[in-house]
Amino acid sequence: MSKAIGVFDSGVGGLTVVRELIRQLPNEDIVYFGDTARVPYGIKSKDTIIRFSIENILFLLKQEVKLICVACNTVSSIALPVISSHFRVPIVGVISPGAREAVYATKNKRIGVIGTKATIASRAYESEITALDANIKVISCACALFVPFVEEGWINERAVFDVAKRYLEPLKKSGVDTIILGCTHYPLLKGVIKKVMGGGVTLIDSAKQVACEVKQILSRDGLLESNPRPLKAFYVSDGPAWFSGLAKRFLGHSIKNVTKVSLT
Ligand code: DGL
Repeated sequence: MSKAIGVFDSGVGGLTVVRELIRQLPNEDIVYFGDTARVPYGIKSKDTIIRFSIENILFLLKQEVKLICVACNTVSSIALPVISSHFRVPIVGVISPGAREAVYATKNKRIGVIGTKATIASRAYESEITALDANIKVISCACALFVPFVEEGWINERAVFDVAKRYLEPLKKSGVDTIILGCTHYPLLKGVIKKVMGGGVTLIDSAKQVACEVKQILSRDGLLESNPRPLKAFYVSDGPAWFSGLAKRFLGHSIKNVTKVSLT
């Protein structure tokens, strides 16, 4: 049996990454774990995020995955630098691919980063960007209300526009020409963010970049599959109904096979 790509996130948002993985790697089996019992991670402490992340990785390893893709920006920025070297399986986070793409895209060397409180406080994107080019100025801002808006299905409402205007003001003022959407949920708010920032700003969707990196690693290691009927399995740590109900918005199609598991 072929080995699957393992993906995990704090909840449902990581399905934006699964969507890209399916687009770029249509013949791969995918096992997804969403920690819906403990979401959101974006307001939790470093120790807690690290502990949850290790448990999630151990669950995916039991499914015998060949690579783990950390779809969650919060986990990628807080836990990965500490834990990834402790596992033998390749673990890919969203920070480096997003940062690299933004450095490539910016012309005026001003990059905005938006994410959860924990992601922004970690300064992970900032360190990655300035390590690539020390002349780039990074302006970061946490947009805590974006996650609940997206989960409520409020994508184009006036209220979202007003909140986005307020959050993005420092980025607008500092004249960034590139913004990293540093949270699983933010690609769904691209329209509103574009409207606030104006058409000249490039939005970097870390989901696209991380899928690219996964493809490169699998190809480099000779692990690409050409399964004509690839399997997709979805596991959650709380009742599947909430996850299934939101899945279509993030994945583009609905899913039925969602299984509740206990990590302890
Ligand atoms: N998945 C998280 C992220 O990308 C957002 C939701 C949460 O706070 O857990 O940072």
